[in-house]
Amino acid sequence: MPARLIDGRAIAQTVQQEVRQAVEARLAAGKRAPGLAVVLVGDDPASHVYVRNKRRTCDAIGMESRSVDLPDNVSLGDLLDVIDELNADPTVDGILVQQPLPGHIDTEQVVERMDPAKDVDGFHPYNMGRLALRLPRLRPCTPYGVLRLLEATGETYKGRHGVIVGASNIVGRPMALELMLAGATVTVCHRFSTDTPEHVGRADIVIAAAGKPGLVRGDWIKPGATVIDVGINRLEDGSLAGDVEFDRAAERAAWITPVPGGVGPMTVAMLMKNTLQACEDAEQVASCFLP
Ligand code: GUN
Repeated sequence: MPARLIDGRAIAQTVQQEVRQAVEARLAAGKRAPGLAVVLVGDDPASHVYVRNKRRTCDAIGMESRSVDLPDNVSLGDLLDVIDELNADPTVDGILVQQPLPGHIDTEQVVERMDPAKDVDGFHPYNMGRLALRLPRLRPCTPYGVLRLLEATGETYKGRHGVIVGASNIVGRPMALELMLAGATVTVCHRFSTDTPEHVGRADIVIAAAGKPGLVRGDWIKPGATVIDVGINRLEDGSLAGDVEFDRAAERAAWITPVPGGVGPMTVAMLMKNTLQACEDAEQVASCFLP
């Protein structure tokens, strides 16, 4: 039986609408709009597209977006100074530094310089640590969005077996923590795994996040599984492809995400949700200090 598609565009629209309504309610109550600062270093074409998308979505839902574009050769010190300024600015609720950063920049230093309360990517060790301890605050956007896609199927994933292909800091690792938090049994396959096809073949949920087009073969998929494809790979002919061999996987899976139109829009929607949350949490903290 062919798989049913999980429509990430539609689900992301629903999330964005929820956030837009909350922003409108804030404005109607005389409060300010949440503010997101998006920092882009250099001219990586894919990063430009992602960042433009984030800034446009911000505008579309009534948030304040601040753009900071820096040259490819910016020094680590200058980039850290920018982070310090944004940390200190009370109109900035969320800070996002698009990755990957140029090779001469130590990404960890940049991420750790951010105020964890403004880390709307959820990449700071504080936020990752909270997630690992089952006390999530700001949650990494892509895995958080995948959870929302899984919920939308109406299936029960508690106690089921999730297999993640890819162990990056941005997706694979926080994805494992999110699935554990949701009560799944979790296996993570990575570049040193020798038996990835067998692991995938036992999965009720497959999350492909390796960044390699077609890496997960359709005939690995267990019949009836849910397949989430996080990969967005630009092929030589200019088209986009995921990490999963879509057509053959869709013949076996019960649910599958398309590329594009699956996970991609969810990452942006959850970023908006995180920015709203960061804004509301900051107000709550500030109100504790009122006389
Ligand atoms: N590069 C690829 N995905 C992401 C993301 O979710 N956030 C940031 N900051 N950079 C990325």
